[in-house]
Amino acid sequence: MKIVKKKKELSELLLLEGSKTKGFVPTMGALHSGHVSLLDLARKENDILISSLFVNPTQFNNPRDLEIYPRPLEKDLEILESHSVDFAFVPDVPEIYEHAEPWHMDLGNLEKVLEGEKRPGHFQGVSQIVKILFDLVKPNRAYFGQKDYQQYLVIQKLNEVFNLNIEIIACPIIREPDGLAMSSRNLHLSHEERSIAPLIYKALNSIQLNSETMALKECLIKARSILESSPLFIVEYLEIVDKNDLNTLIQWTGSNNEIALVAVRLGETRLIDNLIINRK
Ligand code: PAJ
Repeated sequence: MKIVKKKKELSELLLLEGSKTKGFVPTMGALHSGHVSLLDLARKENDILISSLFVNPTQFNNPRDLEIYPRPLEKDLEILESHSVDFAFVPDVPEIYEHAEPWHMDLGNLEKVLEGEKRPGHFQGVSQIVKILFDLVKPNRAYFGQKDYQQYLVIQKLNEVFNLNIEIIACPIIREPDGLAMSSRNLHLSHEERSIAPLIYKALNSIQLNSETMALKECLIKARSILESSPLFIVEYLEIVDKNDLNTLIQWTGSNNEIALVAVRLGETRLIDNLIINRK
């Protein structure tokens, strides 16, 4: 595995690979099995595998979150190497943002609802860095987790708006054995917070289960009550929306377009999760 810190070096090295297919997995490091699942799929589907480790400051709307973001670089590089990554791109902040780069793209509704509403500017930062990385790597395929579902829609929009012709692949959510979605932020949970965190998945699952027999509104009330059974949870949102445009649903459509999305705060830590409602 080649570790590359400079944009110019990465472009030059990738040029040497000619017409080989390139799979790309962008990350912010603190790698876990969720990231690894993306790497493994990308490894299978492409000739060359490129991954990036870059904690992107422009997507953090909370400076404290950026400050405490875990950065176990050596361990991350070992993980990338052991999953047969060919090029690990690990730039520093000035290498990516030479000047105060301005950026804005019209994300429409994606920026106004759910994560977009709760984290102003976040998706501008995400689309900014991913566009920079896509322009550098020029991948054939890029892999993103369903865990950050709204982010995946933002990347699809970026791909469309700029006509990048990259195949954007969504990968399933990888969970701990107790159902908690894997996240770098789980490291910040106290023992007590970690012990109740699986209620998030339990609440989502209750929606799936009850969707056969209960009205949508009842399902949401029930799921919320599972979370609120612990005073440690602050529910930022819990919604069932159309999975293509994130428009709120007020009753079941019976189609396979429904997704339940949740964001909670557990002490200092903010966690998100989601479940696509499976209609048989
Ligand atoms: P990061 O949070 O490091 O996540 C990198 C990728 O791993 C994302 O596509 C995310 O959805 C995926 N991922 C995280 N947890 C997962 C899980 N439990 N199961 C499956 N996939 C999971 O997302 C980012 O970084 C950044 O916003 C980035 C796209 C790199 C831009 O800075």
